[in-house]
Amino acid sequence: MRKRDFVVLWSVLVTFIFFFSISANAVHEETTKAAPKEEVPYDRPVEEIKKYLAPMNKFRIFQVQKVSSCSECHDKDWEVNPQRRELGEPHDETPGKFINHDSENRWCLDCHSAGNRDKLRLINGKLVDFKEYYRICEQCHRRTYREWKMGIHGKRTGYWNGDKEYLHCTQCHNPHNPTFKPLEPMPAPRKPKEIRITTTDNAN
Ligand code: HEC
Ligand code: HEC
Ligand code: HEC
Ligand code: HEC
Repeated sequence: MRKRDFVVLWSVLVTFIFFFSISANAVHEETTKAAPKEEVPYDRPVEEIKKYLAPMNKFRIFQVQKVSSCSECHDKDWEVNPQRRELGEPHDETPGKFINHDSENRWCLDCHSAGNRDKLRLINGKLVDFKEYYRICEQCHRRTYREWKMGIHGKRTGYWNGDKEYLHCTQCHNPHNPTFKPLEPMPAPRKPKEIRITTTDNAN
């Protein structure tokens, strides 16, 4: 008697599991089909904002060294030294040390072309002009880059529907040391009780 009960129960369970797995499969198929509906935030093409970009700052090294391009020193006879090292003149001052920017894992020649010093270099080896420096940043800071193009990150001046100007990433962040120093917290405000002049003070 108990054994028959057991068999009935068992077969009910097996049938249930069978149908459940079929329907689970069906559900799975449906979600797979629905996947392309996922919302992708609008990403503005950089071409749309190029005409609003602020004039770029002059490189400091060109003012200090009185040259107009990197290749005046780094010419075709330049022997590239790819060895990571502390640089001496003129790069001890311009641009200074490369720090606080994942600097343990990369160095100058990850961003500057070794063969053509007047160009920047993408991770895939493609060269870009200095004026398109933001393509360097885009590779790792895609979200911030998108927000900058949308006018959420950074600074815009002018009119929303007229002339305006976008500041460049590099006018706020030094690519060689981008972190801002944390602000010193101000002391907490004093409670009125602590400010109130006491009678003994008054006596003076
Ligand atoms: C006045 C000459 C001069 C100018 C201009 C100059 N450099 Fe250099 N650069 C040097 C010297 C000298 C060294 C080697 C320093 C050392 O080994 O201590 C060097 C080294 C470097 C290195 C290290 C790799 C290597 O080839 O040894 C990089 C990267 C670099 N320069 C980038 C630049 C960039 C980018 C510019 C332009 C924005 C520039 N330099 C402009 C003189 C110059
Ligand atoms: C994260 C990428 C990156 C790395 C790494 C990097 N640079 Fe640069 N560098 C840039 C960008 C971008 C600019 C252009 C900045 C601008 O437009 O103001 C620049 C500008 C410069 C300039 C001109 C700056 C000026 O105002 O005179 C020199 C010189 C230079 N880099 C040398 C170096 C040297 C030397 C190293 C290694 C010690 C190095 N860079 C590492 C991205 C990088
Ligand atoms: C290869 C990847 C890579 C590229 C290219 C790159 N960054 Fe970064 N960046 C990083 C990483 C990783 C950190 C975090 C470094 C750390 O905390 O030491 C960082 C940190 C920063 C920070 C500081 C963030 C903070 O929380 O304070 C700023 C600002 C920044 N990057 C701006 C730039 C700009 C501007 C460019 C283009 C010139 C650029 N980065 C290019 C990887 C990259
Ligand atoms: C008007 C100045 C300005 C411009 C232009 C600007 N930033 Fe920033 N950025 C800031 C400030 C201010 C912060 C906040 C710093 C903090 O909290 O310490 C910041 C924060 C960041 C951070 C830290 C993480 C985050 O998203 O908050 C990254 C990365 C960064 N900026 C990258 C960029 C890149 C890349 C560009 C250009 C595409 C850019 N910034 C343009 C001022 C600027």
